[in-house]
Amino acid sequence: MLSVRNLQASYGAAQVLFDVSLNVGAGEVVTLLGRNGMGKTTTIRAIMGLLQPQGGEVRFDGGTVTGFAPYRVAKAGIGLVPEGRQIFPTLSVEENLVATASTRLGSRRWTLDAVYDLFPRLKERRLNLGTQLSGGEQQMLAIGRALMTNPKLVILDEATEGLAPLIRLEIWDCLKRLRAEHQSILVIDKNVNALAAFADRHVIIEKGRSVWTGTSAELMADTTLKDRYLHV
Ligand SMILES: Nc1ncnc2c1ncn2[C@@H]1O[C@H](COP(=O)(O)OP(=O)(O)O)[C@@H](O)[C@H]1O
Ligand SMILES: [Mg+2]
Repeated sequence: MLSVRNLQASYGAAQVLFDVSLNVGAGEVVTLLGRNGMGKTTTIRAIMGLLQPQGGEVRFDGGTVTGFAPYRVAKAGIGLVPEGRQIFPTLSVEENLVATASTRLGSRRWTLDAVYDLFPRLKERRLNLGTQLSGGEQQMLAIGRALMTNPKLVILDEATEGLAPLIRLEIWDCLKRLRAEHQSILVIDKNVNALAAFADRHVIIEKGRSVWTGTSAELMADTTLKDRYLHV
């Protein structure tokens, strides 16, 4: 479904991605792991067209989307839950959700009601402004907003960052429900144990290069991996 090959990208003169490759198959849950500053968010930005790649290829759903404008990548079927949530603060919950609702043909799984069913809290808060929400509610809104585009692939960048443990569990539960519906997911998170229990495969990046890929069992079995690439 998503195939990233030898991706390269820079901020100005500073090259950040040197050689990132990863695949997400239909219905698969894949993680992108690595310490802070290794290029995870930059990889996502380059996939989404928020940053022009300088080399490599991004293929999605049978065609290239390399260097496409963000709206075209979204239209192709990739929904992003960005780092830092980035909800529209001056819009209500419901306006945030409707703002991204897709008219894309094909999958029409996600409606307002379906999002409210997944996150009843958002329904209670539907008239509240983005600024009036707790961190957890903002995160739920960011996920709901991505789902409203009826994406074939959802990408979550640090979706549990800064949330209280109980709220974190709610987010993981939500992702498990999506997974049970065979939603393809690419997820970035610091919580390696939760990810190992949840994901099919993992990709580790180090200084802008994908250096390892394997299953959850392989990840957990090799303690040197965690010491070498994941612990601070
Ligand atoms: N807007 C930016 N301008 C310049 N450098 C950036 C910018 N965003 C990130 N970087 C740098 O790119 C590198 C990778 O960052 P990032 O992709 O955010 O890492 P991660 O998501 O893995 O923590 C870091 O060295 C970071 O300082
Ligand atoms: Mg990041």
